Amino acid sequence: MKKWNVASVRAAKGVRKLGCCTAYDSCFARLADESGVPIILVGDSMGMTVLGYETTLPVRIEETVSATAAVARAAKNAMVVADLPFGSYQCGDDLAMANAVKCIQAGADAVKLEGGVRVESLIRRMTSAGIPVLAHVGMTPQSVNEYGGFKRQGKTDESARQILNDALRVQDAGAFAVTLECIPSNLSAEITGTLAIPTIGIGAGPSCDGQWLVMHDMLGLNECAPSFVKRYANLAEDVRKAFSTYVDEVANGVFPSK
Ligand code: KIV
Repeated sequence: MKKWNVASVRAAKGVRKLGCCTAYDSCFARLADESGVPIILVGDSMGMTVLGYETTLPVRIEETVSATAAVARAAKNAMVVADLPFGSYQCGDDLAMANAVKCIQAGADAVKLEGGVRVESLIRRMTSAGIPVLAHVGMTPQSVNEYGGFKRQGKTDESARQILNDALRVQDAGAFAVTLECIPSNLSAEITGTLAIPTIGIGAGPSCDGQWLVMHDMLGLNECAPSFVKRYANLAEDVRKAFSTYVDEVANGVFPSK
């Protein structure tokens, strides 16, 4: 199988829907890759899923780079996208470029960043430097403090118009795909029908060209996942059972055996 790339992701629009997920380490990235996941996102959701923070805001670029390198070592066929964390692209375009380069040098095939109009010129600069960009509009979790919580966006006509405009502007700037997060289904259907590039939705309904799920949510490792998540396994339960059986067996002399 050929490794997924910008051209094949773009060509999938209207042909095949893409079931994509996050990963933050080599072990899970290898399992996702072997299972045919086309795009693995080293999401800043790592802040909440594995680092124990309440939001994605504290994630540092060094953590993203290290996780990206681990994922890239395992992903043979999946495209690896590094999610630029908060602060790594808001403090000037030169610093943003340097941080994107670090992710590419760690093995990412592309970077993702949040925002529409406000990151348009940065996307233009990255793509003209040969750094593929996957954009992210709608509910952008790095703006949680602006929203006052992780709140669905695009509910009013004005907000919906702004999100559609954001999507068009990031496409014009050269993004090869765009994430639509937590917006109404009819709005993501309109954006998907309007754009030439693929939309990858999360909590944005069935019309998108692909879907993201955060790995810990879909595998049931995070037991407080958002309501739109479909759980494909109950790993938290299995892992607890394994740990407690182990503890009991050691305590009772069952393991190790003679
Ligand atoms: O960080 C992340 O996991 C993401 C997805 C929700 C798209 O940005």
